Formats: sequence, C-alpha cells, structure tokens
Amino acid sequence: MANLIISFYNKNDMSIIKFIEKYRKSNRTLYTTPSHGQGDFAAPQALKMLGKKFFQCDYSEIEGFDNLANPIGIIKVVQENAARIYDAKASFYLTNGSTSGIIAAMYSVLNRNDKVLIARNCHKSVYNGLVLTSAVPLWLMPEYNKDWDIYETVNIDYLEEVLSKNRDIKAFIMTNPTYEGVMSDIYRISCVCKKYNVKLIVDEAHGALWNFHKALGTPSLLQGADIVVQSLHKTAGALNPSALLHIGKDSDINPRKVQEALNLITTTSPSYPLLINIEAVINFLNSEKGKLQVYELVKNVNRLIRALKVIPNLEVYSYNNDVTKILVKVTNMSGFELSGILYEKYEIEDEMANEKSVLFLTGLGTTKAKLKKLERALNDLCANNIKITQEEESVKSFTAVEPRVRFTPALVWGRPYKEVETKFALSRISMEVIADYPPGIPVLLPGEVIKKEHIEYLSARKPKIKVLA
Ligand SMILES: Cc1ncc(COP(=O)(O)O)c(C=O)c1O
Repeated sequence: MANLIISFYNKNDMSIIKFIEKYRKSNRTLYTTPSHGQGDFAAPQALKMLGKKFFQCDYSEIEGFDNLANPIGIIKVVQENAARIYDAKASFYLTNGSTSGIIAAMYSVLNRNDKVLIARNCHKSVYNGLVLTSAVPLWLMPEYNKDWDIYETVNIDYLEEVLSKNRDIKAFIMTNPTYEGVMSDIYRISCVCKKYNVKLIVDEAHGALWNFHKALGTPSLLQGADIVVQSLHKTAGALNPSALLHIGKDSDINPRKVQEALNLITTTSPSYPLLINIEAVINFLNSEKGKLQVYELVKNVNRLIRALKVIPNLEVYSYNNDVTKILVKVTNMSGFELSGILYEKYEIEDEMANEKSVLFLTGLGTTKAKLKKLERALNDLCANNIKITQEEESVKSFTAVEPRVRFTPALVWGRPYKEVETKFALSRISMEVIADYPPGIPVLLPGEVIKKEHIEYLSARKPKIKVLA
C-alpha cells in the first residue's frame, strides 16, 4: 500500500483534482465504498440528472485519497495552500457548510458552562453549538434599522460595556457581513475582545468573496478575528454546502483542537465531488481570471445599483454594506408584497423579504442578463404602479426583542414539553427554535421566556407553540 501511495503521489499531484484525474486512468479494482463503484451503478434518474462524471469523482478515503479527519497527504496540501491564500494560520475544507464550521469553532473555544456572548442576529447553527457545548449564552443586540427592518452593526461601546461587566466571557460570536451585507468594524471589535481576553468567532458565511476584491469588505481574518467561517456556496459559486474555516494568524487557537472539534461533527465519508469543487473554486478565485470575474460582478452590480437609484419610488440600501447583496424597497409597498409581485408577475425569486424590504443575493453565477431582468422588472413595477390584486394579509416582521434566557439550550434539551395555544403562552418557557428561514435568525430559542412581542408576532402564523412542561 505504501508503494501505491508513493507511485501515485508525486509533487505535481499534490492536489485532490490532479490526483483523482490520474487515479481514474489507473486499472485498480475497488472493493470499497461508495458502492456505486464510480458510476458502474447509478440510480437511473440520478444518472440522468447528475451525469456519470459526478459519480466518477466520488470516492471514499482509500489509499492515496488522504483523510479529511486527519490529513497527511493531498488534503493537507490543499488546506495549507488555502491558508496561504487566505493568510490564515490554518484553513479547513468543510463539506457540511458554515453550519459545521460554526459548531466546530464553538467546540474549539468553549467548555461546559463557559459564558459566550453572541450577537442576536446570528444564524441558528449557533443554537446547535450551544446545545452541544453546554455553553451559557449572553445575547448582544446589534443596532436595528426599522426603516429597512434589518439588523445593522455591533455597537462597539456596548460590546465593551458588556465584556467589562462580565469578565468570565470566553468568546464573542458575531455575523459579518450580515445577511443583508452590513459590515461592522471588526478591527475595533477584535481589539476590544483581545483587551478582555475573549476569542472572536466571525461568521463570514456571506463574505467569501472578500479576500478577492478590496471594495467588497475587509476579511475578518485580516482584522484580528480568531476563527472565521465562510460559505463558498453563498457568493463564491461553489456547490452546496461547501465552506471554509480559518484560524487567524495571530490567534493562539491550536489547529489540532479545531480538527478534533470538526471530527466530532463531520461525516467520516466526506464528499470528494465537494472537496474537488472547493479546491477548484479557491484556485479559480485566486487566479487572474477569477479576480477579474469578481471584479466584473462588482462592476455589474454597481451599475445596476446606479440604475435602480434613479427609479422613482424605489430605494436601494447603500450604507456600509457589501454591494453583492442588493436590498431595495418600494414606497407604499411592503417587502412581502414586492417579493410576491416579482415572483408572480416577473418570474424573479429573491433571497428574502421582510416587512420593509427585499434582498437579492448575487454571486459569481449572477450574469449581466439576470441583473438586467431585475432592473427591467423593478422599472416596470414602479412605472406602472403594479400592485397585488388579491387582498394581501398584512404580514409583520419580527422586530428584534432582547431575549430573556431562563435556562440554557443545553439544559432544556430533551426535556418534556407540551403544546399550548400561542396566545396563552405568555411567560412560558419556549421549547422550540423559532427562526424564519431565511435568514435563520432566532426569534425564540428553547429555554427563553415567551414575551408579549413573541405572541404578537407568532399568533397569526403559529396557532400552537411548544413550551416546557
Ligand atoms: C449568516 C449565516 N451563517 C451561517 C449560515 C449557514 O451556512 P451553511 O448553509 O453554509 O451551513 C447561513 C445560512 O443561511 C447564514 O446566513
């Protein structure tokens, strides 16, 4: 076996892509998983949809293919290469999305009963991390913009106040950019965290292009974050659910610890098509062609934004945000209504709508033609004052409410619950994760007290709610 590895590995093959290309030409007969035998069998409908090539790239961790849980060969090399490109102490390929990266980041820095400060506009995967680590959450409310119905930046004075009053906080977890692209000042935030010896974990799921275009945003990794997680599928054109976890160069977090944390929650059969795709996407982004494509995307989106800004009755959110996320609103129309019209009349599906605005996510697959279609639709809609014909019920968004944690998520996990009518649930303890998706920001989590604002918001949508028995 050792000979086999040596014969397949030469310096030029130190890439998952090159290695698999070469391996496929060999005559080796595999009695291993996966049982489709690289497409010698494939369920006919799947074959028709995915094509044989997809199966031909799908292997298990057989000799020479290395092991994502303990990389010593091609995976180690490509991850080291990623660390060089992203200027990280270490980078990890994730085949289970930023979700897995966020949980692993939490496992890496938190022990049972450790206090962790979390910005409330976090993704719900942070809740999973709270259940698994048994850490104790303290919630920090970012600023809220009622005109657009979105969370904005983390207020640094407020952060400092919380950290100075709670000297036992071990980590701070925040999202940057937000779903809508709003950017906080990570450099100053990281300075405050360092001052109080607090690890900074940044969910940069929506900022995966930042390392390849200066005008988008400065990567949190280069501004002092300890761990940064990025989804490559959200903007960088990778397959779902590809992501990266990076450790900051100056962080004292041990990569071994992160690897062990990842191994706790990651399949032992990672998808090689995803690994190939992650490697290819990083190579592309780091190439001249890739950088040009990101540049073109930014140029085209900026052009669209300029065109949208002159449409009467239409407003584009452009403050401190990543332009690849286009947030618009139309006078006298809720975001939900606007979204409905675009879907029904113009065959356009947005990423997310709220009471005030609608979000369009763009990425490497957003062509000029798609942007033009959106521009035409918004132009037409505003020029002709298009409205929804049927009586639209007035749907409300949930406006940020500071949570009251009675029990930690880990403490109530698996406890008996009962369902009660939502309107009678005031002051009961929630046993549900309630998070509209997208964006997956928690409205209410298990262990939190149900407040009157929750009832007002939920009554119309959810007749019953699970509460602690
Ligand atoms: C801010 C944020 N973080 C994390 C995630 C989870 O990412 P993934 O789908 O890569 O697991 C999402 C997904 O919507 C998100 O919006």
